[in-house]
Amino acid sequence: MSQLSVRHLLGIKHLSHEDLHLIFQTADNFKEVINRPIKKVPSLRDITIANVFFENSTRTKLSFELAEKRLSADVVNFSSTESSVKKGETLLDTVNNILAMKVDMVVIRHGSAGAPHFLSKHIDANIINAGDGTHEHPTQALLDTFSIRERLGSVEGKKVVIVGDILHSRVALSNIFALQKLGAEVMVCGPNTLLPKYIDQLGVHVELDLDKALAWCDVANILRIQLERQQIKYFPSLREYTLYYGVNRERLDLLPKPITIMHPGPINRGVELHSDVADSEHSIILGQVENGVAIRMAVLYLLAGGGV
Ligand code: CP
Repeated sequence: MSQLSVRHLLGIKHLSHEDLHLIFQTADNFKEVINRPIKKVPSLRDITIANVFFENSTRTKLSFELAEKRLSADVVNFSSTESSVKKGETLLDTVNNILAMKVDMVVIRHGSAGAPHFLSKHIDANIINAGDGTHEHPTQALLDTFSIRERLGSVEGKKVVIVGDILHSRVALSNIFALQKLGAEVMVCGPNTLLPKYIDQLGVHVELDLDKALAWCDVANILRIQLERQQIKYFPSLREYTLYYGVNRERLDLLPKPITIMHPGPINRGVELHSDVADSEHSIILGQVENGVAIRMAVLYLLAGGGV
């Protein structure tokens, strides 16, 4: 197979096992390219891409922009805080106006789950979901699983625990889908209040005790506590959360074997993850960021019709 089975990247749920392997294989090639002295290739020359961000972002926005520029695409950036959205314009009107300027692909981050799906039904460009509410963040899951494959040789058969605020996390859902499609065993770990009610339907192990979860896994993907999405109190205090669910060196030193530590960023240092682990030899956090560019190059290239 040399083409994706989808026209848009809306979520991992819609991708096949073959799609994931094709993206990885293409990203392997692009990773080699971006480590050369001349990092740019002409693959998307004459393609125009709009990065439309209705929510804050550092990593995803920069990584998409860099990926697009490395592929020689023309890039326009839109941020809702500086736009006519503030004057009451609808999402569809905003994007249709951007498309009237002859844009071929739209990368969208939005606070509402389903916003990229809605756009894909109403406009003619390729849509790439850069995070929709608490739903999916597909390119994050692709770069996470690509990074596990790079570190451990494969994803198949590995035990991966996702720790923390599963309830509000689009990274968790996309990671669960990607890991399962690639043959990993998945566990979630966090306080009961931060686990979604439908967790039993996702085919994952559930563990409330962090030390047991860390002893079980090969890889721990630690999630940020998303205070901005929490309208009510889900735990008594940050101090208590850190006591029960903060990953630190002391906890890792008690384990029977070394494990790999991941975090999608941004990190609340000293809350869900301590610096003595985040910056240690166990952590592949900056490797994840590096791989994000190659993965996004692969996704853009393949959606634009490129094959390997
Ligand atoms: N991981 C991630 O989505 O980070 P940003 O919010 O900075 O894009």
